[in-house]
Amino acid sequence: MQKLAIQGGTKLRGEVRISGAKNAALPIMCASLLTADELHLSNLPDMHDVKTMEKLLAQMGVQISAASQAATFNGSQVDKLEAPYDMVKTMRAAILVLGPLVARFGEARVSLPGGCAIGSRPVDLHIKGLQAMGAEIHIEHGYIHATAKRLKGAHISFDLVSVTGTENLMMAATLAEGETVLENAAREPEVVDLANCLIAMGAKIKGAGSDTITISGVAKLHGASHRVMPDRIESGTFLVAAAATGGNITLTEARADILDNVLDKLREAGAKIVVSTGRINIDMQLRPTAVNLRTAPYPAFPTDMQAQFMALNTIAEGSAIVVETIFENRFMHVQELRRLGAQIDVEGNTAIIKGVAQLEGATVMATDLRASASLVIAGLVAQGETIVDRIYHLDRGYEHIEAKLVKLGANISRIK
Ligand code: EPZ
Repeated sequence: MQKLAIQGGTKLRGEVRISGAKNAALPIMCASLLTADELHLSNLPDMHDVKTMEKLLAQMGVQISAASQAATFNGSQVDKLEAPYDMVKTMRAAILVLGPLVARFGEARVSLPGGCAIGSRPVDLHIKGLQAMGAEIHIEHGYIHATAKRLKGAHISFDLVSVTGTENLMMAATLAEGETVLENAAREPEVVDLANCLIAMGAKIKGAGSDTITISGVAKLHGASHRVMPDRIESGTFLVAAAATGGNITLTEARADILDNVLDKLREAGAKIVVSTGRINIDMQLRPTAVNLRTAPYPAFPTDMQAQFMALNTIAEGSAIVVETIFENRFMHVQELRRLGAQIDVEGNTAIIKGVAQLEGATVMATDLRASASLVIAGLVAQGETIVDRIYHLDRGYEHIEAKLVKLGANISRIK
């Protein structure tokens, strides 16, 4: 099991390039199942979940020629319409092959995703939406077995906002007969990036980025080239790390227009932020001020930034209230932060953090992707050495994070 050893106390300084967005790359890779032509993707991040998705698509018969941070996907020889349990259990996003397979091949067998650390995370909305489009769905032996002669457009209203639910049904609708309307759709920028890629492939989609998306089905989609958008959560993670260490860094190849809420919270915490094309500079002179947070679907404060901000609040001036409204168990980082000396009380989906002057280094354990990022941030500011264990969680969603942090002056290394 690999670990990270961090000596706290350095202020982060310098420039860091932001990688392609994991949560845009994953659905966009699945879009290769919708056409027999080549889909060329660039700015793909080099991280574990992307490699897992490439393996899943390859075992279905998608031909992939990968270069560095780019790959060409050819779905003309797809011959296995199945996503097996052993792949789905490690990456919930594998559910995103369901919509494309039913839409193009009329059949799919996709394992139900197991639960995960941050909650049960059902896929009932994905299934309900496909049934509304005429798919016959049986759940047997832990698998979703879906069949449809040809999907028909439908009017689907989501009971709650689901990012991959919106993405799965948007992809399915591109080849359905007639018009599909997705109401209460997710507005995340990654949904818009997927829509832009599908439109480049010949799909007819209106309203992506709003809560109502209209898709007019077409007979076929053709190949395209698409550059994956920059990762807003990686951006936010580095900005919070800089704020926590009282540093001054500049993100390059970043987009500020999709981070309004996060940038506002950082300004509220006392950071100076200057934005220019493709660049975000943050300068944090003073000890941060505690900021209250309430997670909600985009454009509100992102749940994927909650753990990172909690680390900032542990050493801030004052107390903060953090409310997690999306997942029922996304406070796994709390007990680990407490080991570093943080003062946090949890009542249901609400955490109260009382800022302390100093954290003390300790050995802590990562439990899920963003919790691990929060422990790294805490380790960067704690006095002495922090060891973060089980960092495979971190490697799922961050590209070479310790190399990027070393470039910013952090004293961090990977140990076996
Ligand atoms: C996406 O997960 C992201 N993953 C998550 O990022 C992110 O935290 C989440 O959206 C919320 O923004 C990818 O895009 C690959 P949801 P997703 O469906 O789509 C419930 C990270 O750290 N729900 O929007 O799985 C669900 O239980 C990851 O990069 C149903 O009840 O999340 C949750 O409470 C973590 N039934 C809420 O909706 C369904 O059919 C939002 O889930 C689907 C979801």
